[in-house]
Amino acid sequence: MAKRISLTRYLVEQQRVDGLIPGQLRLLLEVVARACKSISHAVNKGALGGVLGSAESENVQGEVQKKLDIIANEVLIEANEWGGHLAGMASEEMDGIYVVPNRYPQGEYLLLFDPLDGSSNIDVNVSIGTIFSVLKMPEDDRGVDAGDFLQKGSQQVAAGYCVYGPQTTLVLTVGDGVAMFTLDREQGSFVLTQEKVRIPADTKEFAINMSNMRHWDEPVKRYIDECLQGKEGPRGKDFNMRWIASMVADVHRIMTRGGIFMYPWDKREPNKPGKLRLMYEANPMAWLVEQAGGAATNGKQRILDIEPTQLHERVSVILGSKNEVERVTSYH
Ligand code: AHG
Ligand code: MN
Ligand code: MN
Repeated sequence: MAKRISLTRYLVEQQRVDGLIPGQLRLLLEVVARACKSISHAVNKGALGGVLGSAESENVQGEVQKKLDIIANEVLIEANEWGGHLAGMASEEMDGIYVVPNRYPQGEYLLLFDPLDGSSNIDVNVSIGTIFSVLKMPEDDRGVDAGDFLQKGSQQVAAGYCVYGPQTTLVLTVGDGVAMFTLDREQGSFVLTQEKVRIPADTKEFAINMSNMRHWDEPVKRYIDECLQGKEGPRGKDFNMRWIASMVADVHRIMTRGGIFMYPWDKREPNKPGKLRLMYEANPMAWLVEQAGGAATNGKQRILDIEPTQLHERVSVILGSKNEVERVTSYH
């Protein structure tokens, strides 16, 4: 029988054999995975668990929160605050940073997350997910503040997402490629199901919300228009389209079979650089995609090189199969 490698064993080996991750980071990742398992159980219960519907509150970005947005946020905080591996956390669902309370030991890591991505899909039973990013506290820093979180994506020490779909799959990088783990519900553990994930450089599949077409900028219009012309057009091949409206699910498809995902800047709110958030959506996804051989830009610049100025700042996102991302970027 092929040996089953649990997430725990995978991380221990990354720590012990390859020296890639320190013990505290291993602990942190195990705790995040445990929290994702709890969220997965809550998602699965659906109406039976009373987790569907709106919470009748708004987050800092003015979005109406769903019950599950809040539940997932609480699960992540409660799981992570007492272990001693973190100094603080930041989340899409919290205005400011969450400093680990004094009654617990302070660690040297910072955890950022989108607790529940794809909120519009919760009530309709379509795949949703959790996205997370791990940074290190700046050296010689006493007392965590929001400024400590404002590090470029290239500074991340771990990043991942968990997709709650037909299967619950955790996808992780610590800078040594991308590994996927599937939740075995009987055993209650994540099991390694794919290592060294590679995104093909070419694709015939794009993901964008086409209803925003009239608001797009010229380079994006040109790229999609060329795809739509298919075999008869300049690309000489037919394209297929997918849009799940859960970034996690769209990125997971790209991780599995390639593709390009775009949520570009558009003219609806010209002062906003985009819809997606840099620190806990774009950065972790950009690093994962790059680690799998893909690319991620905002049209002008590599996402991981963007110097953040605000915790909840937004960004234009183009990511996935390398040759397509480079093409769209060149059109800018
Ligand atoms: P969230 O649910 O965390 O607010 O994120 C939703 C994001 C992203 O997951 C998805 O790609 C996009 O919003 C969908 O936006 P549209 O509804 O505008 O297509
Ligand atoms: Mn999101
Ligand atoms: Mn969210």
